[in-house]
Amino acid sequence: MSVSIGNFKNVVRIAAFAVFFGVLGGALLLSSTLVAQTAISCTPVTLLAGSGSGVTNSLAGKQEDGFVELFNGKDLDGWEQKNGTATYEVVDGTILGQTVKGSPNSFLCSEKEYGDFELVFEVKVDKGLNSGVQIRSVSKPDYKEGRVHGPQVEIEWDPGESGYIYSEGTKRGWVSPTRTQKNVFKNEGWNEYRVLADGPRIQTWINGTCVEDIEMPAIESAKGFLGLQVHGVKKNAGPFKVQWKNIRIREISGDERRQVKAFKGTPKVDGKVDDLWVGVPRVLTSRSIDEVDELSDDQKASTAWVRCLWDEGHLYCLAEVTDDAIGSEAGDEWDRDGVEFFIDRNFARTSTYDDDDAQYRTEPDGNESAGSENDLSTYQSAVTKTKNGYIVEVCIDLKGKVGKKIGFDVQVNNDPGDGRRMSAMKWNDASNDTYFDISNAGTLEMVEGN
Ligand code: BGC
Repeated sequence: MSVSIGNFKNVVRIAAFAVFFGVLGGALLLSSTLVAQTAISCTPVTLLAGSGSGVTNSLAGKQEDGFVELFNGKDLDGWEQKNGTATYEVVDGTILGQTVKGSPNSFLCSEKEYGDFELVFEVKVDKGLNSGVQIRSVSKPDYKEGRVHGPQVEIEWDPGESGYIYSEGTKRGWVSPTRTQKNVFKNEGWNEYRVLADGPRIQTWINGTCVEDIEMPAIESAKGFLGLQVHGVKKNAGPFKVQWKNIRIREISGDERRQVKAFKGTPKVDGKVDDLWVGVPRVLTSRSIDEVDELSDDQKASTAWVRCLWDEGHLYCLAEVTDDAIGSEAGDEWDRDGVEFFIDRNFARTSTYDDDDAQYRTEPDGNESAGSENDLSTYQSAVTKTKNGYIVEVCIDLKGKVGKKIGFDVQVNNDPGDGRRMSAMKWNDASNDTYFDISNAGTLEMVEGN
């Protein structure tokens, strides 16, 4: 007999979510976080290594592409159980978790902690059992006597919410604001999960399909252990099983060069998200430039989701910026709210600016500026205001071709109302040197697209 833990969990979760945001979250959190989340669509792009499939038993015990095996297939070395009395044992090269009557949620946790990483694993679960994998999770004696809490990537039978993110043990409920049914979870067999946790951005894939792509609220932990969950069950339910295998992780270091794909297309440069932009890979300006990050606790950095298109003569970028206090009195352009684009057209990664290199900037009021030697006549931009910020759409003179790569970076400057720049969030190069040394920009590759 099966129990529908999922449905019960949902009611509790939705209620807890509403109460939390109503009482504690306040208008600021709602406008800056919730709105940003709901605007996000899933774009299966930034796989940093490996592909969406091909995780097989033959990889056990080996390391490749920077991945490390977290489970040796023989014993639970490197893992420890926290909370609950569910059982975990090694069976046929898998970790088998089984429910035990009366047990609360149990977790088999990695002894090591991880912050930014790419995690892959395979999982199979019995009908009626809700499960998940904790990421960046913690357990502290002074928080509910060690209750494991943190973001959880959901595992359950279809129709369900597999691949979406739940804030386990915090009463905050779902982090994923909408959970569209994707029909990608194989109920009867093994499922390949891939989780890319890079700064505040979490992306998940199941069996090669992107399920979630979300900016995590700052309240969720940024680092912690992984945890394999065996959910508690109702009195007469179970026993249920859940199994994992081929659990591998690749840690992402903060200075790893990021990559983005630009699709082919010629949008109208009007600051609007027209149809051409839908489905184009997005990146988030999530690296803080340390020199300018002086925000107080109640101020939030301004960030942007950015996507790019190209055609034979141009590169187009669309930056959707979250900024709850637009406008600035600061004297210098870079101290005011605005978006900057750094372009290394010949991809030479020089540490000075050559003729092909450029820095362009557009502010929310439409004011444009450029680096000292750069020509603004080859730059065009348009701005529109949104509920929680603004959109900058730009057109940059550049010869496009399938397969061409260029150096590319984006920076969002933010004056939260103090008359000076208090945050500057970059996509790739976390230094403040990109305006004179373009060698550490990220990589943009032009592809045909959908
Ligand atoms: C930098 C500023 C610099 C400016 C010059 C910006 O990208 O963040 O610090 O003064 O470029 O244009």
